[in-house]
Amino acid sequence: DVVDVRGLTAEGFFTYDPGFMATSSCQSAITYIDGGKGILLHRGYPIDQLANHSNFVELAYLLLFGELPSKDEYENFERTIRNHTMVHEQLANFYKGFRRDAHPMSILCGVVGGLAAFYHDHLDITREEDRRISAIRLLAKMPTLAAMCYKYNIGQPFNYPRNDLTYGENFLYMMFSNPCEEYKINPVFAKAIDRIFMLHADHEQNASTSTVRLAGSTGANPFACISAGIAALWGPAHGGANEAVLNMLDEIGDESEENIQRFVDRAKDKDDPFRLMGFGHRVYRNFDPRAKVMKETCDEVLSELGMADDPQLKIAKRLEQIALEDDYFIERKLYPNVDFYSGIILKAIGIPTNMFTVVFAVSRTIGWISHWHEMISGDYKIGRPRQLYTGHAQRDYPSK
Ligand code: ACO
Repeated sequence: DVVDVRGLTAEGFFTYDPGFMATSSCQSAITYIDGGKGILLHRGYPIDQLANHSNFVELAYLLLFGELPSKDEYENFERTIRNHTMVHEQLANFYKGFRRDAHPMSILCGVVGGLAAFYHDHLDITREEDRRISAIRLLAKMPTLAAMCYKYNIGQPFNYPRNDLTYGENFLYMMFSNPCEEYKINPVFAKAIDRIFMLHADHEQNASTSTVRLAGSTGANPFACISAGIAALWGPAHGGANEAVLNMLDEIGDESEENIQRFVDRAKDKDDPFRLMGFGHRVYRNFDPRAKVMKETCDEVLSELGMADDPQLKIAKRLEQIALEDDYFIERKLYPNVDFYSGIILKAIGIPTNMFTVVFAVSRTIGWISHWHEMISGDYKIGRPRQLYTGHAQRDYPSK
């Protein structure tokens, strides 16, 4: 049931809804989720069908423009993205201002916000053409910027994008190629990274997307808004979860029943802040449909690598089994979410743990910018929540 409170708010009618458990902040035609049934649709298409039959670039077009592209539209869109993959040469100086050991997410927040300083030729957000160019620039440049974070961390030279490669291949190339040895792109890895990009592409009004919309509602430029989204994504309750999952699997150490049970018990203990990372979701009270595809992709990648016996995969699968049979998790409808298996795949591909959330940010940029574009294209108001004041009543300043 939807109660529309517009028109009631100005004269003192307020709802109090911490965490937005029951409040729609906007109308949107991009993504539909039925958390109880475990359904996720982008523009009406189920995520598993998209993951199996489409690719990230086509999905990006769908999210941004509302329909699947024709062959010509697809080719044109892909070509346009390729034309924008390079970043301004001076941006490299931004990176050099950071400590080498800076977390790549902190670098990414900074450089994406900084893009507005380089691409200010099309920042009139009231113009459809400017919004479209900014969206394409962000989509095209994110893999380049993300790979540069990694290269800077490990002290290797930055790679320029190669426009003969697909979106996902290009990211792998920029991450792993170096001047001393040829990097051969494994097609299984390329498919896996494309899937990871697709599965994280959009998820309606999650914390980071809501942050992008809130920042955008002030009229802020899209690069600043996406930078705000990246900052929100960084937290372990959101995009930082896949990094936290691998740290947790490392901590568990081995697949012995006793060890895993100890962590499950800790997650149930209300005096212990520990939670099973990669478990639970604000909206899904059933299997996260993305987690199912992610688990299949994980099996594909690890068997390609001859790592089907990977200790972390074994721990993860056993942990999932134990948790799903436990009354605590059953009663609260807590299931593995998209990030329970994504970290294992990323690690197998060779992506270091501190880059996991960066990969998520690359994937989610299209969702963020599609929501921003949808909002700015329609009627919107500045986002300005109210509060339930719990402080002092008015009192006089003490006389001295
Ligand atoms: N482990 C143990 N208990 C949990 C977990 C978990 N992972 N998740 C929720 N619970 C419990 C809560 O303690 C609470 O129990 P209570 O009713 O006894 O107090 C109950 O389940 C409901 O949890 P809430 O915190 O109210 O759920 P909320 O919707 O606020 O939180 C969240 C959702 C943040 C995702 C939570 O499930 C969590 O912290 N999970 C672990 C982190 C994680 O995997 N995040 C990734 C989310 S997906 C994404 O961003 C791509």
